[in-house]
Amino acid sequence: MTERTLVLIKPDGVQRLLVGRMISRFEERGLKIVGLKLVAVDRALAERHYAVHRAKPFFGGLVDFITSSPLIAIALEGPSAISVVRTMVGATRPHEAVPGTIRGDFALETAQNLVHASDGAETAAAELALWFSPAELVDYERDIDRWALAAAD
Ligand code: CMP
Repeated sequence: MTERTLVLIKPDGVQRLLVGRMISRFEERGLKIVGLKLVAVDRALAERHYAVHRAKPFFGGLVDFITSSPLIAIALEGPSAISVVRTMVGATRPHEAVPGTIRGDFALETAQNLVHASDGAETAAAELALWFSPAELVDYERDIDRWALAAAD
């Protein structure tokens, strides 16, 4: 099933000059970029995005971190995009992430794990609506899809 999901390349990814390499991985897999922007995140947006973690001891540090420098927000579309992207990103704790995943190749610390990816259909819908206006999510055809993807299901 074709899905859309949200990816954030967090401030550590931007500061470590890994943005292009991470976007390349998603593109090369066949996922379609349907939204993309650089965002200087304010605390209100950060707290809404991570609201589910509000009671956790690391919440304050997490909000400090995600607002410390700009991040890249990406909306990706493709077959089973939500689980495909989660698998590509790897385990939340980078020391448990397997090589070949983004965190398994580039990260070591949970607090600086480079990427956020939506973890389910409901979360993806809510997070995409939080980070992108409807006009910022663009429908378009890619000529490569007749080579990379089967007919739409
Ligand atoms: P993310 O996938 O963005 O979702 C929640 C984030 O909270 C997670 O990645 C980590 O960056 C962060 N996080 C989770 N557990 C911890 C922790 N124990 N200490 C600090 N940050 C954490």
